[in-house]
Amino acid sequence: MKKVSPIDVLVIGNGAREHAIAWKFSTSPSIGRLYVAPGNIGTAGIAVNVDVDVNDIRALLAIALKFQVHITFVGPEIPLALGIVDLFQEHGLNIVGPTRAAAQIESSKSFAKHIMKLAGVPTASYKQFSCAKKALEWGRNASYPLVVKADGLAAGKGVIIAGDYREFADAVDITLSQMKFGKASEMILVEDFLIGTEVSVFGFVDGSNISALTAAKDYKRAYDDDFGPNTGGMGSYSVPEYWSDELAMEIRETIFRPIVTTMWEENIPFVGILYAGMMMTSDGLKVLEFNCRLGDPEAQVILMRLESDLISICYKLLNESLAEQDVLWSESSAVGVVVAAKGYPDKYKTGFSLGPSLDKIQNVMVFHGGTAMDHGRVIGNGGRLFTVVGINNSLNIARETVYKALENVECEEVFYRLDIANS
Ligand code: AMP
Ligand code: GLY
Repeated sequence: MKKVSPIDVLVIGNGAREHAIAWKFSTSPSIGRLYVAPGNIGTAGIAVNVDVDVNDIRALLAIALKFQVHITFVGPEIPLALGIVDLFQEHGLNIVGPTRAAAQIESSKSFAKHIMKLAGVPTASYKQFSCAKKALEWGRNASYPLVVKADGLAAGKGVIIAGDYREFADAVDITLSQMKFGKASEMILVEDFLIGTEVSVFGFVDGSNISALTAAKDYKRAYDDDFGPNTGGMGSYSVPEYWSDELAMEIRETIFRPIVTTMWEENIPFVGILYAGMMMTSDGLKVLEFNCRLGDPEAQVILMRLESDLISICYKLLNESLAEQDVLWSESSAVGVVVAAKGYPDKYKTGFSLGPSLDKIQNVMVFHGGTAMDHGRVIGNGGRLFTVVGINNSLNIARETVYKALENVECEEVFYRLDIANS
């Protein structure tokens, strides 16, 4: 039999999502050397961490060149929005993700709306403002609730729901006048408030072909029953009960296909992972937003369900031959619960010891995010500390396994939601 040469891979990012991505690569039969930049204590166990700023795309290029990696895979959105893919391609390197222009599907909400309009994809109707006075004038006669969104990247925090004119005026003040989100809020979108069930849908895209899709539910609020402030995501499970082959096909053909075709026709082909945040309303499916990467914590659950080889998928994406690749999602259910530092997403402590808890967590995967090692002790070093994921044919058993494992977390400084996957 012909021996396949090992493939050296560089994963960019340092969260639990990137730990899950690196873990998935590590299971590939063709993996060679695996690097993560900058990585975390979880990736240190399966890869070589390279200390670098995740947004310093020139330093990341230097690392890819130095280690002569065959493939680079980008976890977070900021390096994509900064043009890491364009830069690597200029140097002849294989990198999985959209170019800076295509990443605008996430980094500019007005660009995303423009593409959705061209593609005829359903989304909330909206207005765009860059002048606070004009926005306020318009808001006087609007009907509420409305949703105010910073146009640019705001780490998931740039969305404000305004229940009445007063809240709308506050939102306009925070965004356009005070520029709380910096350049991201030089322009805002104001859109209709949609009511329904939210779902995150993911597919691999090679510019023109789209893989089989999968879905996950993300829990954005900090506390049980969706109370508390919005966070980056406190847990996830895949797939939601209402997900079916028919729904997957409908979303693929009526949302993903027209977007991918339109971007291709506009000469901004999308390559990478396309993530649609959608609302199932009484008036049909509507897109809330697109992201140009895997979600965190959704990646931690969907990658556990990905049966196909990630290296093989990456090559098919790079060669525009995704049509030749099966992307198989397991029938099993995966449940992921994020353990966060008390106080997150606002002020929280770091440097506390997580004690021996982590060693006692069994029968599940632990994907590290905001943890660090200090003299042999695992300590808190961020808001979202780690994600615990269980997988089973039964969603109930997957959930029970995770919560059973979490009983071993005895640290007083942390919290997690108790209602993930508990519908
Ligand atoms: P986004 O960053 O656009 O996904 O928005 C963050 C969250 O705000 C979404 O996950 C929804 O829960 C909520 N949201 C955004 N847009 C709308 C909308 N038009 N109607 C209702 N909720 C929304
Ligand atoms: N979990 C939401 C996101 O990654 O954007």
